[in-house]
Amino acid sequence: MARHTPVMAVMVAAARKAARGLQRDFGEVENLQVSLKGPANFVTAADKKAEKTLFEELSKARPGYGFLMEEGGTIEGSDKSHRWLIDPLDGTTNFLHSIPHFAISIGLERDGQIVAGVVYNPISDELFIAEKGQGAFLNDRRLRVAARRELANTVVATGIPHIGRPGHQRFIAELGVVMNEVAGVRRMGSAALDLAYVAAGRYDAYWEANLAPWDLAAGIILVREAGGFVSDLNGRDDVLNSGGVIAGNETIHRELAKALKRAHAAS
Ligand code: IPD
Ligand code: CA
Ligand code: CA
Repeated sequence: MARHTPVMAVMVAAARKAARGLQRDFGEVENLQVSLKGPANFVTAADKKAEKTLFEELSKARPGYGFLMEEGGTIEGSDKSHRWLIDPLDGTTNFLHSIPHFAISIGLERDGQIVAGVVYNPISDELFIAEKGQGAFLNDRRLRVAARRELANTVVATGIPHIGRPGHQRFIAELGVVMNEVAGVRRMGSAALDLAYVAAGRYDAYWEANLAPWDLAAGIILVREAGGFVSDLNGRDDVLNSGGVIAGNETIHRELAKALKRAHAAS
């Protein structure tokens, strides 16, 4: 995809504009106003500013499209077919700890299907994009999921529930099985980048529970357009509603799903 389609150009321009504020705020994170949405669930002035910029840019370019945003919630649009799913800063805890691993995530849904996605890390300047039928790209380099077929050779990413989050026992049971069958487990703190790294073949697979639609939307189409498989934790295609995800190439997706099932059966 040498040239971005018109809608992709709109999404990339909005992400880059919001990123400028995040780059500035990241440099002075210690002065940032922070509030708590729940135990260890931070929101900063940077999240809100970035979301405001994304909302303004996207609604200016596509008046009438609806929104589902992490901080601002739902905005109904006059165009009932199209909805933006926005996470202005995925990886807030990393951001607050000056860990340069976070991203802006923009998903576009048409008639209930995710048709385009952007995940942009403003510090590494890594722009992951995908559009239905057009493939997935990192800074214009075409992406393919990794080709490993043996779980024992894989690096798998996940999300560990923290204080105040549900599913600790379930996760411990899952990790107990998976860590015994893979070459490495990674917890990096951004679901959107976890999925983007699967699309880029950096991780062989990823699983996590209790995610929100804005964490997942853009990442789902990145993995699928890079030739990967994405399902919910029961192997069905209900990722956004269930909030659970397994992603990887066809073989590793299947093997990881089987390992998680064994963990649930044993716990
Ligand atoms: C969080 C990150 C994290 C995941 C959490 C999400 P946020 O998003 O994606 O990796 O484990 O479940 O809530 O809160 O930083 O936007
Ligand atoms: Ca998030
Ligand atoms: Ca967020």
